Amino acid sequence: MYPLVRMTDFPPAMLDAVRSARHVVALTGAGVSAESGVPTFRDAQTGLWAKYDPMELATPEAFARDPALVSRWYDERRQMRLTTQPNPGHHALVRWEALQRAGGESFTLLTQNVDRLHHAAGSVNVVELHGSLMVWRCTACGEEREELGPAFQQHPPRCGTCGGTRRPGVVWFGEALPGQALEAAFDALRRCDLFLTIGTSAVVHPAASFLHDAAEHGAATIEINRDHTPASDVVGWTLRAKSGEALPAMLDAAFG
Ligand code: OAD
Repeated sequence: MYPLVRMTDFPPAMLDAVRSARHVVALTGAGVSAESGVPTFRDAQTGLWAKYDPMELATPEAFARDPALVSRWYDERRQMRLTTQPNPGHHALVRWEALQRAGGESFTLLTQNVDRLHHAAGSVNVVELHGSLMVWRCTACGEEREELGPAFQQHPPRCGTCGGTRRPGVVWFGEALPGQALEAAFDALRRCDLFLTIGTSAVVHPAASFLHDAAEHGAATIEINRDHTPASDVVGWTLRAKSGEALPAMLDAAFG
C-alpha cells in the first residue's frame, strides 16, 4: 500500500522534510495547470480536435504531413492559454521558491508544461523541459520569437526574417529535449534533498525517471496528484489531491 497522505493530517516527518530541505526540486506536469482551465495532455480532446489524438499531432511527422493543421492546433492552445491565469498551485510554488531563496537555499522548478503559467505566476528558476507553446521557431533560420498576440493569420506562420516556415517551440515526440534544460535538470537532481512530482502522469521519459535519480541521491520524495500514477508506489509520501489545494495547505502546515 503506498504512503497515502490525507490533506487533514500531514505526517510530521513529511513537514520536517519540507522545512529542512536545502535544495528543493519540483517536477510539474499538466495537472498543475488543470485548475487554470488548461486541459491536461491526456484529457479527452474536445470540439474540433475530438477526432485527433494529441500523440499524433505532437510529432514532426504530423507537422511535415499537414503543417497548417498542426499549426492551427497549437495556435488554438496558445490563444486559450492567453485567456488563463495561474492558480493557487502555481502561486504556492512561487512562495516556496521565495522562502528557499530567502534562506539561502535553492529551488528548481522543472516543468513539462509548455504554457508558461509558472513564469506568469512569478516563478524564477524554471527549466522548460518540453519547450514553450508561446515561442515559435523558424525551421529555416532558427529565429525564435515569443508570441503573445492574436491568432496567426497564416498557418503555419512565416518567419519575418527569412520567410521560412515557423513551428511551435515545443518538444515533439521523438525529438530530443533541449540540451541546456536537461543539463540544468540533472545538475539540480544531483544536489536535491527534496523532490516533488506534481500533476504529472509520470509516464514520459526522461522526466519520469527524475524521481528515481533524486531518490538515488538520497532525496526525500513527495507526489501530489489527483490520481494514482506509477510514481505513487515509490515515493515517500503521496497526496491524492488537486495541486491547487495541496500545495498551499502543505506550505501553510510547514511554514505557517
Ligand atoms: P498528463 O495529462 O499525462 O497527466 C496529468 C496528470 O495530472 C494526471 O496524472 C492527472 O491525474 C493529474 N491531474 C489532473 N488534474 C490535476 C490536479 N488538479 N491536481 C493534481 N493532479 C492533477 O500530463 P503530463 O504528465 O504533464 O510531452 O504529460 C507529460 C508529457 O506527456 C507532456 O509534457 C507531453 C506529453 O507527451 C510532450 O508533448 C513532449
